[in-house]
Amino acid sequence: SEQVDQWRSVMFLYDSALKKLNTKIEILNNEFVNRYDHNPIEHIKSRIKTSESIVKKLRRHGYESTIENMVKYVNDIAGIRVICSFTSDIYRIAEMIRLQNDIHVIAVKDYIRLPKASGYKSYHMLVTVPVFLSDRTVDVKVEIQIRTVAMDFWASLEHKINYKFEGNAPEHVKRELIECAGMVSALDNRMQELNEEIKALSKEDTDGA
Ligand code: GTP
Ligand code: MG
Repeated sequence: SEQVDQWRSVMFLYDSALKKLNTKIEILNNEFVNRYDHNPIEHIKSRIKTSESIVKKLRRHGYESTIENMVKYVNDIAGIRVICSFTSDIYRIAEMIRLQNDIHVIAVKDYIRLPKASGYKSYHMLVTVPVFLSDRTVDVKVEIQIRTVAMDFWASLEHKINYKFEGNAPEHVKRELIECAGMVSALDNRMQELNEEIKALSKEDTDGA
């Protein structure tokens, strides 16, 4: 039917946008390795939201389940997660993405500077990526989440717990998660400081040689 065709062509656009952004981020990472001998990205994960979660989200926000509404109101149909070693890498990658001529940044949410009440930390960017078709160009929305390995570890467990308790985890579990979030920040800070100390040392070596 016409609906199914429309659904397929919209999903094709999100998939294409994800592929483009994945390649772009990989290239930026490789350039970094060549120039600075440093690998800012540990790994990249991407996913397309399932039709069930798209419908659920539209319903939650009080919108009718149409393809128009989904394109307009659901910003995370295409999602990319970039996992880094250090917090400083997050801002470096965000800046590199921002500087790409064909990427348009719609919104940024810095949950590292301002963590959520849950303790959640991550750097979110909502961008559009142009997808060039044979007869037109379409700007497609992609949600990018950039976080450290430690932040990702925390977010996965917190997500699993909230899923299990359907969002109503016991108070002591929530408190424990907030405490763990503090430990994640402390670990990220110390690891970054340690890394910088080591970098400074190896630079002295080179300077002396
Ligand atoms: P959603 O309706 O959940 O997409 O939220 P939003 O549109 O207000 O955007 P926000 O930037 O707050 O969250 C987007 C995504 O970040 C979520 O879909 C999750 O993947 C992730 N996220 C946000 N808050 C939390 C949190 O407290 N815990 C975990 N584990 N993930 C979170
Ligand atoms: Mg979401």
